[in-house]
Amino acid sequence: MPSLRHLPLLLAGLWSSTAAADGPTYRDAFIVESDPSTTVQSRADLLNDVASALSELGASCKATPRNQFNSPHFTGSSFNLECDSSVERQAALQAIKNLAAVGKAWPVRQHKAQRNIPSLDGSANLGLPGVVDSHVGRQQHVPSSHTPNVVVARDSAPADTLSTHAETGIDRLHAEGITGKNIRIAVVDSSFDTSVPGLSGTTVGYAKDIISGGPVVGDNCSYHGTHVLGIVGAKGTADARSVGHGVNGAAYDATPAGADAAQTDDLIAAFLQAGERGVDVITCSYGGDNAFPEEPWVVVATRLARNGTFVSLSNGNSPSGTGPFTGSGAGMALDVMAVGATYNTITPCIQWQGTVTYGGKTSSLSFTPGSRLDGLVPEKERNGRGQLQPSRRRHGTPADPSNTILLVERSRCWVDQDGVSLTASPRYNFTYVMRYMFATPDTSPKPCPWFTDADAETTRGIISISRAAGLSMMTALSQGDGKNATVTVTLPSDAAAGRVSLSSIHNTEAGGQLTYYSSWGPSLDGRSRPALLTPGHNILSTFPSYLGGWGVIGGTSMSTPLVAGIAALVRQTHPAWDGARIQAAMALTARPIGFNTRQRSDYSGENRDFLAPVIAQGAGFVDAWAAVHTVTLTNTTALNFNDTAHRPSHLAFTLTNTGSSETLSYKLGHRGAASGYVMNTTYTLATGDAQPIYAELEIVPSSLTLGPGQFATVSVSVASEPALPEAAKRISYFGGYVTIDASSSADSNASTTTLSLPYTAFGGALASLPMINRDRGQTYLAAYDATTNQTSGDPLPAGRVFECLYNNSNNNATANPPCTFPADGLAPGLALSLVTQTRNLTIDLVDKGTHETVLPGGVYASGSNNPWDGSGYQAWDGRDRNRAFVPAGEYVWRVTALRLNADSGVFERDWDVWESESWVLRYAAGSTGLPPGGKA
Ligand SMILES: *[C@@H]1O[C@H](CO)[C@@H](O)[C@H](O)[C@H]1NC(C)=O
Ligand SMILES: *[C@@H]1O[C@H](CO)[C@@H](O)[C@H](O)[C@H]1NC(C)=O
Ligand SMILES: *[C@@H]1O[C@H](CO)[C@@H](O)[C@H](O)[C@H]1NC(C)=O
Ligand SMILES: *[C@@H]1O[C@H](CO)[C@@H](O)[C@H](O)[C@H]1NC(C)=O
Ligand SMILES: *[C@@H]1O[C@H](CO)[C@@H](O)[C@H](O)[C@H]1NC(C)=O
Ligand SMILES: *[C@@H]1O[C@H](CO)[C@@H](O)[C@H](O)[C@H]1NC(C)=O
Repeated sequence: MPSLRHLPLLLAGLWSSTAAADGPTYRDAFIVESDPSTTVQSRADLLNDVASALSELGASCKATPRNQFNSPHFTGSSFNLECDSSVERQAALQAIKNLAAVGKAWPVRQHKAQRNIPSLDGSANLGLPGVVDSHVGRQQHVPSSHTPNVVVARDSAPADTLSTHAETGIDRLHAEGITGKNIRIAVVDSSFDTSVPGLSGTTVGYAKDIISGGPVVGDNCSYHGTHVLGIVGAKGTADARSVGHGVNGAAYDATPAGADAAQTDDLIAAFLQAGERGVDVITCSYGGDNAFPEEPWVVVATRLARNGTFVSLSNGNSPSGTGPFTGSGAGMALDVMAVGATYNTITPCIQWQGTVTYGGKTSSLSFTPGSRLDGLVPEKERNGRGQLQPSRRRHGTPADPSNTILLVERSRCWVDQDGVSLTASPRYNFTYVMRYMFATPDTSPKPCPWFTDADAETTRGIISISRAAGLSMMTALSQGDGKNATVTVTLPSDAAAGRVSLSSIHNTEAGGQLTYYSSWGPSLDGRSRPALLTPGHNILSTFPSYLGGWGVIGGTSMSTPLVAGIAALVRQTHPAWDGARIQAAMALTARPIGFNTRQRSDYSGENRDFLAPVIAQGAGFVDAWAAVHTVTLTNTTALNFNDTAHRPSHLAFTLTNTGSSETLSYKLGHRGAASGYVMNTTYTLATGDAQPIYAELEIVPSSLTLGPGQFATVSVSVASEPALPEAAKRISYFGGYVTIDASSSADSNASTTTLSLPYTAFGGALASLPMINRDRGQTYLAAYDATTNQTSGDPLPAGRVFECLYNNSNNNATANPPCTFPADGLAPGLALSLVTQTRNLTIDLVDKGTHETVLPGGVYASGSNNPWDGSGYQAWDGRDRNRAFVPAGEYVWRVTALRLNADSGVFERDWDVWESESWVLRYAAGSTGLPPGGKA
């Protein structure tokens, strides 16, 4: 599910397999890791063990294999589990969990590419990590029947002119001939279209469709992987730097290996295969919801990193607002590189040309093709009538959706009288959609029409146009009687006919700044995240051929592969450096950047003249040239001073002069980065805000000299905390950099290299953070409507009576529950919203008088190691996994959540406990088979 912070967890639908609370968890697929103490033989036989466990149980359940993992890093399997009933499913999961060969088990989840998709209505959050996106995952193979004849403008200049390379020093490395040769990079993403000119010279060493098992990844149903692959290794045939539009990969001579995966077990399989093949670097731009380090994919990433592989992962996108604890997904793993995004200094705009005719005039129409632009659409269908959409909630529908182009503002949605989106619903299957850009401040350059995803599988063409073009069509359509004006849009069927053009403008407002959506750390165990930043927004790279071969998109998805490419350049220069050393070189040489207040949009904030918090930028903006050329290394990428309850008296790091000739003098100092608060109100996390208030550090020694190959230990402690008056109450965060100025000790005129090592700390105890959001409308006694599968939006008053018409013959976990609630069809339920994720959550049904738990084991229970254990129970309709009977009486819901940094859980203070208003259970006359105690 999406980060709980953003989405109140609506607990509804006790036995429903489609309950809202399930989020993207594939209820019927799970991963088990073999118990490391069992023999290899029994590990391999896990599937058989599962089959016999199920048959012993006599359950209807059937387990079918998905993936088998036989790596030193992870041994186990994943299964689909199909059961006729939830009770059996629960029992089956329990039986499997109890097998001797099973160590740990997790649900299979859907992971989403961290491309930032601006929201449709300003608050819906399509880019949120963990949201299921039907276009990512086990998709249908949709072969493109159309191969456009793309005309590529050859660059005459030999130099690498790509802005993202100039900003990061990659251009200088390329000029030095460091291009990633002989380095192998695994790119785990959606499908790759390697037929495009930008990848024609790229040597893809290996390609695997993890999902279908096919050996080749050559389809082009998703643009994301193709874009990411180009950032790593775009290379043309003639001259690596003349691919077209100045695009080339960060490590264009490296050998990428592609793997296509999106669900947890597929990602694990892809990572393990990459490990087995001994790649130097693994990059993956997918996110997830879990920010604890125990999730299985995260565990695998950490194990690979600890074996020396450089692993680059996204720190996550938070388009609805950044701030402390917005990072999520595998980037939160231990020992991996978690990457955040800055704005490109150049905003590239690739557009096609079509024509538009109205009012007797034909003029050209610049547009950006969307994820589906089927070049083979008959001409007649491509011409159509734009429909007026003057208000956000325009009701009514066009008479002939199949021959209508929907004209809609970029950030809006057009709904019918039932609130159903016209562009997204199979109720309409709109084939053509034209989106014009939303209004932007007059002071900013007009934005390029953003690449737009199709909302629905059935969309055959979607394009993005300028606001001016959209508004002028609107005006034409609204002239006369407003009904009969005709606007005809003709789109070219391929890029050549479309005369694709690239224009670029300098982003003087935000270039080089942190994007408004780049998630902040720390990880949920308080570690400094992200590791560093690279350009991720407005990135020009390769795109599938049906989109013309080139495209501009943005997200931490685009930053992550750039870091992988840079890692390859470092590795090529220093073949003996493992992933940890490469990470240290990159962190140490990154340049801390200033804070900006942008939230929720490119246009909302301003740049400040103090450093952004370390939990927003990590080590800072990457400097690839310096990372390759540094001779100084540390043994860590960040110092974590944890919270006040776990503050180490000091932390140490080693400083090594890895050079072979020069003796270096070092001066160590401190540079503060912005601090602020984790909490805003009592139950609401702060959004990304920060102030120039700093701690003081004690650094010992403050200067030292190291000969070639020598190293020394440096000790750092927090001498005084920053003056933040509400540090304990709202939990302050702070941090900064240990600066390390290195210069030749022989030559006093030699220039000084400034390196820095980030540190973070919290000025209160994280265990004092509330886990359960008690704000009104967040966590409350609710009613659950089985017919709509939703909880009521309003808190119920104490003492609400639920009268169950009981039928004991239904208590066999078939589709019908034992209780129905004839009065209004509403069952007792609970709406729950958490402040951050928790490692352990239990929901109990508690007798109001005795305070005893009524249903043993809780009605819902989850742990970060084993969250699938608590499937199902989100409201109560008479059933539970133990088939216990709940007598008439007065009850409350009790929610128990383990606090952060309170992992022992042995003390009462380690838990945040909340009880709902009480509700009354009665049994209706006419109930059949009521056990004793069931009398009303
Ligand atoms: C661990 O790293 C070593 C050295 O690079 C490599 O030979 C080995 O195959 C790796 N092991 C696994 C299981 O990935
Ligand atoms: C839209 O397409 C889906 C999937 O092909 C189909 O099930 C549905 O019936 C279609 N709806 C209409 C109105 O044609
Ligand atoms: C369209 O509207 C214009 C202006 O109101 C009118 O003159 C014309 O007759 C209308 N055409 C049709 C086909 O209805
Ligand atoms: C902080 O301390 C807690 C409790 O010991 C521990 O679980 C956590 O990993 C620590 N975090 C860091 C960043 O050291
Ligand atoms: C780095 O070295 C110091 C000093 O030996 C040690 O205390 C510290 O734990 C090391 N850090 C890491 C991440 O290995
Ligand atoms: C705190 O909450 C208020 C009210 O919701 C909001 O306007 C403000 O931006 C928030 N500040 C921070 C730092 O989150």
